[in-house]
Amino acid sequence: MERVHLSVCMSLDGHIDTDGGERLVLSSEEDCRDMHAVRADCDAILVGAGTVRRDQPRLTVRYPDLIAARRERGMPDHPAKVVVTRNGDGLDADSCFFRQGGPVIVLCAEPSLSALRARLSSAAQIVALGDDGVAGILSRLSGLGIQRLMVEGGCQVLTQFLAAGAFHRLRVAVAPFMVGRAAAPRLAGPGPYLHGPDNRLRILSTRTLGNIAVIVMENPEPRGIPAAPLLTA
Ligand SMILES: NC(=O)c1ccc[n+]([C@@H]2O[C@H](COP(=O)([O-])OP(=O)(O)OC[C@H]3O[C@@H](n4cnc5c(N)ncnc54)[C@H](OP(=O)(O)O)[C@@H]3O)[C@@H](O)[C@H]2O)c1
Repeated sequence: MERVHLSVCMSLDGHIDTDGGERLVLSSEEDCRDMHAVRADCDAILVGAGTVRRDQPRLTVRYPDLIAARRERGMPDHPAKVVVTRNGDGLDADSCFFRQGGPVIVLCAEPSLSALRARLSSAAQIVALGDDGVAGILSRLSGLGIQRLMVEGGCQVLTQFLAAGAFHRLRVAVAPFMVGRAAAPRLAGPGPYLHGPDNRLRILSTRTLGNIAVIVMENPEPRGIPAAPLLTA
């Protein structure tokens, strides 16, 4: 794969949502536009089923000039949407996640495969996952021709990609306020992270976009990402 780009927006105390009720707005218009430019450069956007159940995210490219630029490059208007699930609970073929935007790929654990195919195959491509975690997710997506992937969360999914070191870039947008709720999800949970004090990511840029601090980091040694195909003349 050419690019695995993790992207997340969090509060000052590291939360990526509140603990229920209304969806928490963390981003600004300027940050959103910049994040959509990253989306527009991708073949697919991946989220966990927890995010689909909570947010029903559109995962589209919202800005007409970014869509026009994709068309010029011969790309479809919107990236594909990938959701990972073990049991498929609460995924509904009639929901806007499945009905709006790019085509949907459901990566699901083997035991749920036939039930999910029966329920969702009118609205999505259903692909079996082994129990090999992030490496399995990336190899399935690479096999489907996805070369540039954006991973947008939530906590469980980001924790696995961060722990495995399976990314090239990490974009963190920090909103200058606190959430202060113990049960609210965080950017990442406890885990055996590859990047500790002695193995740091490299900061590529820090910007202020509409009162949001945007930090883009590079992983000097991405792990477990399938190689991009060699280009032949
Ligand atoms: N601020 C931001 O930038 C941002 C972005 C995205 C999401 N969020 C927030 O994040 C929260 C959701 O986070 P979350 O941790 O609860 O959920 P999540 O990471 O979105 O999804 C977790 C679910 O994904 C599936 N899954 C995870 N790893 C898997 C694997 N290796 N193989 C197969 N399936 C796997 C499982 O689905 P099943 O349970 O179906 O088996 C698991 O329960 C929401 O509150 C959302 O608003 C924030």
